[in-house]
Amino acid sequence: MKRNPFVTNGYAGAEYFCDRVQETGTIVSLLTNQNNIALISPRRLGKTDLIRHCLQQPEIKDAYLTFEVDVYATSSLNDFVDVFGKAVLETLRPLGRKVWEGFLNMLSSLRSEITFDINGMPTWGLGLAKIANASTTLDEIFDYLQNAGMPCIVAIDEFQQILKYPDGEKVEAALRTRIQRCNNVNFIFSGSHRHLMSAMFVTPSRPFYQSVTIMNLKPIPYDKYLEFCQKKFCEAGKRLDEKTVEVLYARFQSVTMYMQKVLNILFTMTPVGGACTVDMIDEAVEMLLNMASDGYDTILNQMPEKQRNLFLAISAEGRACNISGGLFVRKYRLLSSSSVLSAAKGLLEKDFITQDKGVYYTYDLLFVEWMKMKRII
Ligand SMILES: Nc1ncnc2c1ncn2[C@@H]1O[C@H](COP(=O)(O)OP(=O)(O)OP(=O)(O)O)[C@@H](O)[C@H]1O
Ligand SMILES: [Mg+2]
Repeated sequence: MKRNPFVTNGYAGAEYFCDRVQETGTIVSLLTNQNNIALISPRRLGKTDLIRHCLQQPEIKDAYLTFEVDVYATSSLNDFVDVFGKAVLETLRPLGRKVWEGFLNMLSSLRSEITFDINGMPTWGLGLAKIANASTTLDEIFDYLQNAGMPCIVAIDEFQQILKYPDGEKVEAALRTRIQRCNNVNFIFSGSHRHLMSAMFVTPSRPFYQSVTIMNLKPIPYDKYLEFCQKKFCEAGKRLDEKTVEVLYARFQSVTMYMQKVLNILFTMTPVGGACTVDMIDEAVEMLLNMASDGYDTILNQMPEKQRNLFLAISAEGRACNISGGLFVRKYRLLSSSSVLSAAKGLLEKDFITQDKGVYYTYDLLFVEWMKMKRII
């Protein structure tokens, strides 16, 4: 059976990947000319998939060792070293014993902690307590990459997370020093917090200043997305009205993930030989929201009350400016400016809302749709 062409859970190959031709060209060219890159965009626009797509291009795939490290769930240098080491081992493992042994031999600070499965394959099962000296292990990983015998590319996803570590500034400096020394490796740092990410790379006093080319990823252009969607329907013997894509693109503010999710359902709803029309969107969205309903319900219930009230206010407003100003506070019957500011801090930290130049909005557009459906806002 052929798979649903609207993929919603990660990169599935060039065939299912829409456009990004220009961005891919730029990234591949920068990397193959020894430049480091910071890739920045709001959430769910397609950074992670774009990086995967770039790493799959023959100029990179055939000439580099590539490593993907997602540091979203890390909260210390120990965690960072843990996911980094694990990512390196995972890439090397399929390349044969000689290759992964080369890496393990470098890890003298950890050797006894790596376990082997029944096939003699190594597993990174360290757990954090086992990394006694994170900065030594980090040195060893960098030493390995520097001498890997092939040029390397390391993609660090959600890089701004390092700023949340208790000793974030020190980690930032320590990483920068190692990266600078390691000329066999180029890096892509990606992240969704524009202000945190750009501050790291454009502030003269910060370690990463001027060390990367910054790319701000934009939404996939409407005409490119339309062409992609219609082609996928057509290949399956189905038709897709242009109006459907137009309405979807506007409703989900051109955010790739939500459009893909709805199209995935619309594709299933459309019979072979039939057409997908604009009136089908509501039903598809409702199906999606019903699937997510329990999750949203729990999240909302678990939010501290002040945060929940502000979250509802911002979600109802759409794009909220001056949230601590009297007008906004009164309109949504919030307690006071100062309580709004502290609630906003909590919501930002947990990624429920996002902020750009003083304008706040809820980043999960499906969550907003769900609250509207339930008449919570
Ligand atoms: N060019 C594309 N064509 C088709 N689908 C895409 C494309 N880019 C991303 N997607 C899909 O959109 C969703 C979001 O993409 P991705 O996870 O790469 O975004 P992200 O910017 O890394 O998000 P986050 O900030 O949450 O990490 C995924 O399900 C992915 O499969
Ligand atoms: Mg991502």
